[in-house]
Amino acid sequence: MSFSPHLLKGQKALVTGASSGIGEAIARSLASAGASVAVNYHSEAEEAQKIVADIKAAGTEAIALGADVSKEDEVKAMFGQAIEEFGTIDILVNNAGLQKDSPLVDMTLDHWNLVIGINLTGQFLCAREAAKEFMRRGVQPHISSAAGKIICMSSVHEVIPWAGHVNYAASKGGINMMMRSIAQELAPHRIRVNSIAPGAIKTPINKSAWDTSEAEAKLLKLIPYGRVGEVEDIAKTAVWLASDDSDYVNGATLFVDGGMTLYPGFATGG
Ligand code: BGC
Repeated sequence: MSFSPHLLKGQKALVTGASSGIGEAIARSLASAGASVAVNYHSEAEEAQKIVADIKAAGTEAIALGADVSKEDEVKAMFGQAIEEFGTIDILVNNAGLQKDSPLVDMTLDHWNLVIGINLTGQFLCAREAAKEFMRRGVQPHISSAAGKIICMSSVHEVIPWAGHVNYAASKGGINMMMRSIAQELAPHRIRVNSIAPGAIKTPINKSAWDTSEAEAKLLKLIPYGRVGEVEDIAKTAVWLASDDSDYVNGATLFVDGGMTLYPGFATGG
């Protein structure tokens, strides 16, 4: 994947959950589009350092920042460090997320709270810190038409109910109204807030759904476009949403899902 290194030149980005999967691809892509990148991780410090080293070797500024996004003090400290290092933050990618799946009747309160804590509360805490910095700084026309951009990682499960995953689906449904409410509130400050809703993308979170040919064949029944997504499909969308090319896009959810939300069962039924 290659982007013009001028697209995000001079911009500073923070990507949560960037030590693997979709977050890693977004961090690498923002950097190749010219942005300095703070690579947030929770437990995978070595992986994050490797990504930072690769980005620096390619000639762009990068730092690794450990923080649990569900913890207010850790999020505040992370933003403090990023702003100290880079001077400001222009782009937040609210990506950190996890699944803890089980049938409703077996779901523990801990697993409910953990998923809501990381996937939803974590996005709120990071959006709040980013918004404060965007409002403090205001628009710098030579950098971007917007004072800042927030990209929330949602999922097709913000609209598709998912049996056995009530905590996860509830967190993503919450992201929809959180993102749109924040977008409405911050638009007068020229801050853009949007979501990406990926379908099935090949990452560690859903490995069992695509890593054997039987599993992949079953999964493809849910994807009209006939292929499982790659992290690059999402990273390209994130770069566009972070850039001024999408300057008039605000409060939108972009479904990047090969048609998974098109009710594929109705192609031959109904
Ligand atoms: C989930 C994946 C799943 C995909 C499509 C994502 O949000 O994290 O596990 O494969 O949605 O169902």
